[in-house]
Amino acid sequence: MGFFDDKQEWLAEVFAQYPADRRRSALMPLLRRVQQDEGYVDFERMKEIAELVGTTATEVAGVMSFYSYYQGLPTGKYHIQVCRTLSCKLAGSDELWHTLTERLGILPGEVTEDGRFSLQAVECLGSCHTGPVIQINDEPYVERVTKARLEALLEGLEQDKPLEEVRRTLPDEEKMGKATIELEGEGGAS
Ligand code: FES
Repeated sequence: MGFFDDKQEWLAEVFAQYPADRRRSALMPLLRRVQQDEGYVDFERMKEIAELVGTTATEVAGVMSFYSYYQGLPTGKYHIQVCRTLSCKLAGSDELWHTLTERLGILPGEVTEDGRFSLQAVECLGSCHTGPVIQINDEPYVERVTKARLEALLEGLEQDKPLEEVRRTLPDEEKMGKATIELEGEGGAS
């Protein structure tokens, strides 16, 4: 059974938002729906979406590749995305990456045995002045991540504490917030 077979009403509502000859414009909402409901978009789903909007699975995959939000493989409950672009690298993202792979025992594309964590290296998240930056799922970034902050973050998530609560109790969180505000006040954002 296709993912959209029992969602005809929803599909009709989405397509009604676009001119009949512009069905391809509905590609993003369809992708988002699969990602939200299934946690990733595999090739079968790409083909299904392609057929619905009148394009190819390759084009769907191409669109997905622009957005780190879309996953082609199953992810863990906490999908940790680490920025690997230059500013974050210079600020120490390699050490974070090392800590994560060692501690979790997984590589990108893998999920921990308990289904809790998965990892992904991503390109610039657009917050270079607060690097190293990581993002968990679709939540607001965790910034200026040191090894100590990362370990505290993982400990909180291992206990399934809400991310917001975990963030508030990270070491030096107050100082980090202040530094960010000062930098932004000085026009230091990159
Ligand atoms: S380089 Fe990491 S957010 Fe830009």
